[in-house]
Amino acid sequence: MIISGISVQELAEKYGTPLYVYDFSRIHENAQRLKTAFRSDDVSVDFYYAMKANCHPAILDVFVEEGYGMDCVSPGELKLALQAGVKPENILYTGNYESHDDLKAAFDSGAKINLDDISTLYRLLKIGTPEMITYRINPGKGKGKYEEITTGGDKAKFGVPYEKAVTAYKNAIDAGIKRFGAHMMTGSGVLDADHFPNMLELFLNELGEISSELGINFEFIDMGGGLGIPYFGDGETLDIEKVGKNTLNIFRKKVMELKLGNPTLALEPGRYLVGDTGIMVSRVTGIKEGYRTFIGIDAGFNTLIRSALYGAQHSIIIDGKENEAPSITADICGQICENTDIFAKDRMLPLTEEGDLAVFTQAGAYGNVMSMPYNLRFRPAEVAVVDGKDKLITRREVFDDYMSRIQTL
Ligand SMILES: Cc1ncc(COP(=O)(O)O)c(C=O)c1O
Repeated sequence: MIISGISVQELAEKYGTPLYVYDFSRIHENAQRLKTAFRSDDVSVDFYYAMKANCHPAILDVFVEEGYGMDCVSPGELKLALQAGVKPENILYTGNYESHDDLKAAFDSGAKINLDDISTLYRLLKIGTPEMITYRINPGKGKGKYEEITTGGDKAKFGVPYEKAVTAYKNAIDAGIKRFGAHMMTGSGVLDADHFPNMLELFLNELGEISSELGINFEFIDMGGGLGIPYFGDGETLDIEKVGKNTLNIFRKKVMELKLGNPTLALEPGRYLVGDTGIMVSRVTGIKEGYRTFIGIDAGFNTLIRSALYGAQHSIIIDGKENEAPSITADICGQICENTDIFAKDRMLPLTEEGDLAVFTQAGAYGNVMSMPYNLRFRPAEVAVVDGKDKLITRREVFDDYMSRIQTL
């Protein structure tokens, strides 16, 4: 297998496994494709990169270069975005059950603050009164690839329920705040192009009611992220041109019809921008013929947790055997002492042997950022491929990294 002109075999030998490899030219391509799909002469559109998807500073640099702002969810992300040179006004801080310290960091940074709850405003006001406030509104509906990543609707822990949104903004008006934004993020991994304009229409109708009841305008309306990429077994890629065209059309129409003023449309995708730019390379450690056939690899949910967390299925390529017909059916397992450390069940594969490389595609988003040293198996290295050259961008974690934080009694 070749990534941007470099053989995965070579990279595995040079840097060891498990290993994340990112194709930087693809990150640029994704960033540009999205901007093109949402290009408009009459609607101003802001793009924020949801850095939770992959916050490596080298990746943030790409988005800064491409003119993206950042969607941050913690003081750590905020600090890194500022260090990457993002201007505070181009950062949207969306907290969730924010502590006093979180709110203080957001307030002090000058970023736009997006509150997740009606009560949080009062805690923020004890720190200071921001010029502008945004609420993450839960419009009462959501859609995600899995229930676990559906972040709108009555089961989601996120956002101010739509029914309470008027009160939330009224409280902000009463506190002397004069500028407002509105935000939703209702689910991740959606491949249905119609979902985005439909969801936005519902949201704009809700915002129309808030706006007419309180006499306020929203400076920006953020439709969240959620743009999906196909994983194992999924069909076509998301038709991003259709998403852009239909979303802009509904935005224009509804903003005019509901007299919403002249808001900017904002998007904050993560997965769509980096998901298909990364692979996770692991090595087959053994094949066990037990009650089932198990293929063991030197990665696990400690390196890529998506399968254990919500059953996500990655395509797994046995390097060098891409063109061989499947001849075995096996479960692909990690080394972690948990029975949930299984990446795939009953996966059909070419004849796989100890020492083969098992390459997980679509691993650029929510991959290494969620890794952990459980079982004292340490976090993988990360390599960037830029202009046909590989460069180590995160060294492999080692035992001493872990011990450096430990104090004995
Ligand atoms: C507030 C917020 N914005 C954006 C995103 C990015 O979502 P996605 O990677 O699906 O685009 C998330 C993901 O959970 C989120 O919570």
